[in-house]
Amino acid sequence: MTALTSGTASALQGTVRVPGDKSISHRALMIGAIAVGETVIEGLLESEDVHATAAALRAMGAAVRAEADGRWRVRGVGVGGLAEPESVLDLGNSGTSARLLMGLVATQDMTTHMTGDASLCRRPMARVATPLERMGASFLMRAGGRMPLVVQGTAEPVPIVYETPVPSAQVKSAIILAGLNTPGATTVIERAPTRDHTELMLRHFGAAVAVADDADGRRHITVGGWPELAARPVIVPTDPSSAAFPAVAALLVPGSVVTVTGVGMNPLRAGLYTTLAEMGADVTLADRRIEAGEPVADLVVRGGRLAAVDVPAARAPSMIDEYPILAVAAAFATGRSRFRGLAELRVKESDRLAAIETGLAAAGVAATVEGDDLVVEGRGGPPRGGCRIATNLDHRIAMAFLVLGLAAERPVEIDDGRVIDTSFPGFVAVMNGLGATIGPAG
Ligand code: S3P
Repeated sequence: MTALTSGTASALQGTVRVPGDKSISHRALMIGAIAVGETVIEGLLESEDVHATAAALRAMGAAVRAEADGRWRVRGVGVGGLAEPESVLDLGNSGTSARLLMGLVATQDMTTHMTGDASLCRRPMARVATPLERMGASFLMRAGGRMPLVVQGTAEPVPIVYETPVPSAQVKSAIILAGLNTPGATTVIERAPTRDHTELMLRHFGAAVAVADDADGRRHITVGGWPELAARPVIVPTDPSSAAFPAVAALLVPGSVVTVTGVGMNPLRAGLYTTLAEMGADVTLADRRIEAGEPVADLVVRGGRLAAVDVPAARAPSMIDEYPILAVAAAFATGRSRFRGLAELRVKESDRLAAIETGLAAAGVAATVEGDDLVVEGRGGPPRGGCRIATNLDHRIAMAFLVLGLAAERPVEIDDGRVIDTSFPGFVAVMNGLGATIGPAG
């Protein structure tokens, strides 16, 4: 473990580009691996989570390699063409790898063993196994539906119509990916729409994916079996969830002016920016454009005062990974913020509701969990800081509290900076390039 510390920074200045989108990177590799031909990917996120997906796909017969120029090439095996892996797939910290791959292998006649790190082995997997069992796969899991697990894929998959009980793009994607090697039409119904990168990427590769909203506001996503997936070039936009860290840091450190370029602005991912606008943040979205089918913009962020905010539960899916850094912003704001409907945060890389509550308390900020809501009593200025945060293998908790330390009265230490590499390698260099002061602790 490498402990890191962040101390009070003077104004942050400059222009940065954050790494590629994690969700889109996983999907580009997976869908490339079951397409026919060679997919060339630009801007792939080269992080531990994405490397875990690449290694798993290689173990199942797809040729996945990085070129010297930074492009990645994937030679696909065709829908249903994956080979049984000879040993256990280790998916590290990556819930997206585990859950989407469970779907991919569930409708092939083969046995797949999967494990991960201590964080991943605590996370619920039954939410994915249950619908896949209805399609004919069977699962052997630890108590409580945990990893390590074994997937016995089915040779005779059946299509299903399934309403997801939790708002989860990973559950939706697992079913859609399983549906590709299934005869007939497989439909997922969502009560609240979640990120649609699987749907967009499949269409990009030539699959027909039908999306329709019903009178009750539920979204029906239908994929037909055995589409002809043809290799396509993919350009991965940058990750709005990673952009959130330099952006909020610039808001909190007085006098800062920071531009974050080419940030993915898919409406199902951009809830944080709506929320920051409601807090009175000075964030301008410049040069809005479409890159590789996804909306992007340059964010120009200026430091300044923030007001408390009440975020409705309906917005949570569009900013589900941003609550740790939003809670940090709320700690500096004037007034009491409430973030509603956050049950899903309990089953992320760590229990993020508990981690935010404990971490903010250690930094001198009162935060409480009321039911599934998080309430943060803003300090109306810099909180005390001066604490050590247990990251519990959670990259976003690590980065959020390092940002808090940049603008708090006293430095903040995190116990493990290594975990940041799961989603944002180069985070410390990017932040310090803007004038932040993050370095080894002690
Ligand atoms: C992701 C979906 C979300 C998100 C995760 C990435 C994806 O998880 O938190 O970081 O790529 O589909 P859930 O599906 O559990 O909400």
